[in-house]
Amino acid sequence: MASSALICETDAWKDLRAHVDDIKKTHLRELMSDAKRCQSMMIEFDGLLLDYSRQCATVDTFNKLNKLAEEAHLKEKINLMFNGERINSTENRSVLHVALRAPRGSVINSDGKNVVPDVWQVLDKIKEFSERVRSGAWVGATGKALTNVIAIGIGGSFLGPLFVHTALQTDPEAAQLASGRKLHFLANVDPIDVARNLTGLNPETTLVVVVSKTFTTAETMLNARTIREWISAALGPQAVAKHMVAVSTNLTLVEKFGIDPNNAFAFWDWVGGRYSVCSAVGVLPLSLQYGFAVVEKFLKGASSIDQHFHSVPFEKNLPVLLGLLSVWNVSFLGYPARAILPYSQALEKLAPHIQQACSDDSVSMESNGKGVSIDGVPLPYETGEIDFGEPGTNGQHSFYQLIHQGRVIPCDFIGVVRSQQPVYLKGELVSNHDELMSNFFAQPDALAYGKTPEQLLKENVPSNLITHKTFSGNRPSLSLLLPSLNAYNIGQLLAIYEHRVAVEGFVWGINSFDQWGVELGKSLATQVRKQLHASRKKGERIEGFNFSTAALLTRYLEASKD
Ligand code: F6P
Repeated sequence: MASSALICETDAWKDLRAHVDDIKKTHLRELMSDAKRCQSMMIEFDGLLLDYSRQCATVDTFNKLNKLAEEAHLKEKINLMFNGERINSTENRSVLHVALRAPRGSVINSDGKNVVPDVWQVLDKIKEFSERVRSGAWVGATGKALTNVIAIGIGGSFLGPLFVHTALQTDPEAAQLASGRKLHFLANVDPIDVARNLTGLNPETTLVVVVSKTFTTAETMLNARTIREWISAALGPQAVAKHMVAVSTNLTLVEKFGIDPNNAFAFWDWVGGRYSVCSAVGVLPLSLQYGFAVVEKFLKGASSIDQHFHSVPFEKNLPVLLGLLSVWNVSFLGYPARAILPYSQALEKLAPHIQQACSDDSVSMESNGKGVSIDGVPLPYETGEIDFGEPGTNGQHSFYQLIHQGRVIPCDFIGVVRSQQPVYLKGELVSNHDELMSNFFAQPDALAYGKTPEQLLKENVPSNLITHKTFSGNRPSLSLLLPSLNAYNIGQLLAIYEHRVAVEGFVWGINSFDQWGVELGKSLATQVRKQLHASRKKGERIEGFNFSTAALLTRYLEASKD
């Protein structure tokens, strides 16, 4: 395929289109009865087990998807990413989040320079700083230990660290190391978020980490100024140096803000915001909370998947298989959404990190929600999925009804073999974790097999309820089983999702690493902000907005007058 041609023009794409009718004729009940097929759709790597036999796909589908991957030059694109080529062409940047977790001593080049030593220099600095804070060698302005950390950041500078923190909180090893400490996240510019964060916090014992790649994001900078004021008001302006540090690629602006550059932790333009959790963005706050050793394990887990993704043939490559299946479900079977369903409360922030419905930043939706190819050509096919999710079994009691009898939504079921917090109540049939996992095993079969009217008749279901109680089945899902949920496995999971998104984008021929779609809203907000200021302070008339926005603004300004 020529580099500027669209993937939908290839024979492989057309072949897959033609193949859809065959697949639609075959129910998953039938596909699941072929044990050989099922066995070929289970793969293991480094303690993980992926079962994708409940996808509406045959071995032939995978052969065709492999052809598509070839036509899309998937292998070459993966190599270009690992080789530090500027594959984020609209921003002229490399995409090297894999370098953030590369083992010390390895070589990953960007513009002919090995970036791994720079990565480790920052990691060493984080290790040293976090140990000093944790041990009480670094104290606040009044000599008290800093036991609370507020990480201020939004989008990629918030969601990844929040996901990992939430997942580690109940891991026994991590929890013990975090004893006596608290990590808070301040993201929303809504003053309610500030108020909630500050409730019960004492500035004397609080360390603030301002996390912003650009150090210009309006929400983060306003929150940072608000918290700086909170510290200054309580402890005097000189206390800021002891109580505020920063993570950014823009060290000039960090200094201008008043944070000592020695207390700034750098990262680089080749780290995309939503791929930055393995940089100081996540590593600093998490090391302050759990200690560097735990975070290093997390990086090792992610690195294990990086190496797998880079080197293992596609038919055994977890992120590649997942990415190709997503393309199949979205572009060929026409299923635009995907549910992420971890059967682990500790993974409650996985879906928000991957999806983030209420913000504009997410690993999947910001990356692959694009309307043009990487060469700027409008796409005649849809890209990206609508990701959402909730831990099981909670989700079962809210939106699963739609998944079972309403729309077809491919599901990712994620289960964990050993619970972080096992409980076995006397007299119960199974342990609490077994109870949870019974649902993890049951749901995929319920979706795949469904329930027929014949079965219901045999169960003497009244005839007026037969249609209501019928489940069509044939609803695809995949199951990923993790051995446990510690820092290492959390790193693996993160990297699997990150690379899956890249695979989808590479095949669709889009740029998964820019995010121009978030700019328009930001610039319109700037216009509104100026108007609000001018109207409130100088009584200026509302101008330059359409009828609707002008009316809403007028109502807002009038109704909020004292
Ligand atoms: O929402 C757009 C975005 O630029 C994200 O890509 C990024 O993670 C987020 O805003 C925050 O940006 P920054 O880290 O520069 O404050």
